[in-house]
Amino acid sequence: MNRHTLIRAPRRLETARLLLEAPSRAHAAAVYDSVNTSLPTLGFIAWAQAPWTLERAIRFCEGGLKMVDDGECLIFNAFLRDRRAFVGRVDLHSFDFETPRAEIGYVGDARHGGQGLMREAVLAVVGLGFEMGLARIEAISEVDNHRALHFAEHGLGFRCEGRLHHRERNARGDLCDQMMFAAFPPA
Ligand SMILES: CC(C)(COP(=O)(O)OP(=O)(O)OC[C@H]1O[C@@H](n2cnc3c(N)ncnc32)[C@H](O)[C@@H]1OP(=O)(O)O)[C@@H](O)C(=O)NCCC(=O)NCCS
Repeated sequence: MNRHTLIRAPRRLETARLLLEAPSRAHAAAVYDSVNTSLPTLGFIAWAQAPWTLERAIRFCEGGLKMVDDGECLIFNAFLRDRRAFVGRVDLHSFDFETPRAEIGYVGDARHGGQGLMREAVLAVVGLGFEMGLARIEAISEVDNHRALHFAEHGLGFRCEGRLHHRERNARGDLCDQMMFAAFPPA
């Protein structure tokens, strides 16, 4: 696996209820609305600590597409198939092509929580990652992000591998502990 594997990867996935697409400028208005509406549930997300402008959302979507075009990561914005409502964003990033492994990230729209939609979106991207040859996909969440910990272990079925002490600074700039979860290709 290498950068070109990511560049050649599908940019569109379909699940029972969702359409997942690589970011585009056309998504910016929906992302802007979603981030601003979901701010109260995004306390652990460094890039969502204050209201966004539409320009910020445009830069976010265009910057995301550039990273996908450059083979740095895979990013999908998920929409309901029937209404085109924005459900959330899922990405595979921090690739180590030698292993090969990557980390998965996900941020859902608060209005669509608790319906299994983010689970559906994330499992589709996990499936793509394993089809591309990943040997391991990691999900890492702050120890206080209880909803994300529950989601990783019980929603996604990732294995909890333990606590990582002072691994990063959190959205407030404080050193924080995180939990490491991992998933492996089907045997
Ligand atoms: C982490 C996050 C993505 C989880 O989203 P979510 O809305 O809980 O995701 P889902 O709805 O897919 O979760 C599954 C839940 O839906 C329920 N559900 C309802 N209908 C379902 C269906 N048809 N299929 C599967 N599950 C279904 C499940 O029972 C489960 O409920 P539970 O939480 O009580 O166990 C979301 O909380 C979020 O965006 N948080 C803020 C960003 C963040 O912190 N991201 C993580 C950074 S590390």
